[in-house]
Amino acid sequence: MTDPRPKQGKSVFIRTYGCQMNVYDSERMAGLLKPLGYTVADAPEAADLVILNTCHIREKAAEKVYSDLGRLKQLKADKANAGVDMKIAVAGCVAQAEGAEITRRAPVVDMVVGPQAYHRLPELIARTARECGDVLDTDFAVEEKFDRLATREADGPTAFLTVQEGCDKFCTFCVVPYTRGAEVSRNVDAIVAEARSLAAQGVREITLLGQNVNAWGSAPPAGVAGDEWGLGELCRHLAKIDGIDRIRFTTSHPRDMDDGLIAAFAEEEKLMPYLHLPVQAGSDKILKAMNRGHTAEHYVKLIERIRAARPDIALSGDFIVGFPGETSEDFEATLALVEAVGYASAYSFKYSRRPGTPGAAMAKQVAEDEKDDRLARLQSLLEAQRQAFNQARIGSELPVLFERPGRKEGQLIGRSPYLQSVHVEAPQSCLGTIAKVKIEGVTPNALAGAMLKREEAAA
Ligand code: SAH
Ligand code: SF4
Ligand code: F3S
Repeated sequence: MTDPRPKQGKSVFIRTYGCQMNVYDSERMAGLLKPLGYTVADAPEAADLVILNTCHIREKAAEKVYSDLGRLKQLKADKANAGVDMKIAVAGCVAQAEGAEITRRAPVVDMVVGPQAYHRLPELIARTARECGDVLDTDFAVEEKFDRLATREADGPTAFLTVQEGCDKFCTFCVVPYTRGAEVSRNVDAIVAEARSLAAQGVREITLLGQNVNAWGSAPPAGVAGDEWGLGELCRHLAKIDGIDRIRFTTSHPRDMDDGLIAAFAEEEKLMPYLHLPVQAGSDKILKAMNRGHTAEHYVKLIERIRAARPDIALSGDFIVGFPGETSEDFEATLALVEAVGYASAYSFKYSRRPGTPGAAMAKQVAEDEKDDRLARLQSLLEAQRQAFNQARIGSELPVLFERPGRKEGQLIGRSPYLQSVHVEAPQSCLGTIAKVKIEGVTPNALAGAMLKREEAAA
């Protein structure tokens, strides 16, 4: 293998689409390129290498990549006229799903690298410099990738940390099992090492990531007896790290929500009272057609058990309207489920037909205007619930982790335990600390409050 290191003084611009795992992957790609002399540019105009870290989940997300590539083609041509070479890489889930089709459709692309192969970016860059034409790497080598992601730099007091990747659930609407591959868990020691290094750099809150994060399972760390650990044990173990004061995880699947994890919500105070637990739909017929593996009743009962363990927990979910065969009665069942559960926040989408998934070939596709109507009705209900949840915090005192300066002078923006943004007047020196805040009001997207007292440092 050639060492591509001699290149110095280059810069990379990375555009991230899609989910938090892509955000994490983009950070890691920037980290991998640093030893090659790449600094991060804040616009493609200033970059020698542009990476589009793409998402394939819905048609709109995938098509956005091609419109961005259209613009980059012009930029690359302008730069070439000025004697400057700019390389373009497509990474992420579109790269995995479409592979060589991308360079056929957009010949401007020099590299196509899947989400399980990006640790080999340095080699790919060296190859594009050596070889004429484009290069492609869409192997599934998750474990090898995790091994190669050594050190990383923290950026602020919160950080994502991937602990699990891939999906074996095969919901009939979803491309993720094809783009991210089978479920793979990282081992405890590697996760702890990354969490410790983040804590040493001032990170106070970590969000454990996985496509099905609660399917995480691994042998206990060396020297600890017992059976395989689940996510509950992992959270309790990470909570022992000095400096880490808040732990979150996303995204969970209802089928993998085990008793150990539910108990952790009751017993581990560093585990924040917020849970993103997508259900997608409220009709058993549609849940079955989606291959979700549970009924609406099972989900509602599960929520009851979680609330019994942690009564103040804020729930969030994902919903799809207009899955093939969804009648208006089926849709009413989704609304009824939302009424029964009560969400603090949620994401909802119109069903998008994805090539290669079983749903795309199903009969009774729902008309677009019907999907629009259903989405509008669902979103207005979810928005009312979100506002009600936020309103109900007025008058309470919440610990807030200050993450960044606000737009107004003297203002900081932080997060409540329930993942709400909180705007507070506070000195810059409070950034990265946790303080008690009295909640005094709500704005459409945040809470507003006054600082009561700074907490003593945890360690
Ligand atoms: N692993 C997670 C979700 C990953 S995708 C889970 O199982 O919950 C994030 C969300 O995108 C999904 O929860 C779903 O609501 C939505 N989604 C996935 N495929 C979709 C499609 N074909 N059309 C519309 N929304 C989709
Ligand atoms: Fe997609 Fe279903 Fe897997 Fe989630 S569980 S990533 S929705 S297939
Ligand atoms: Fe999109 Fe891939 Fe994430 S399809 S949602 S970037 S796992």
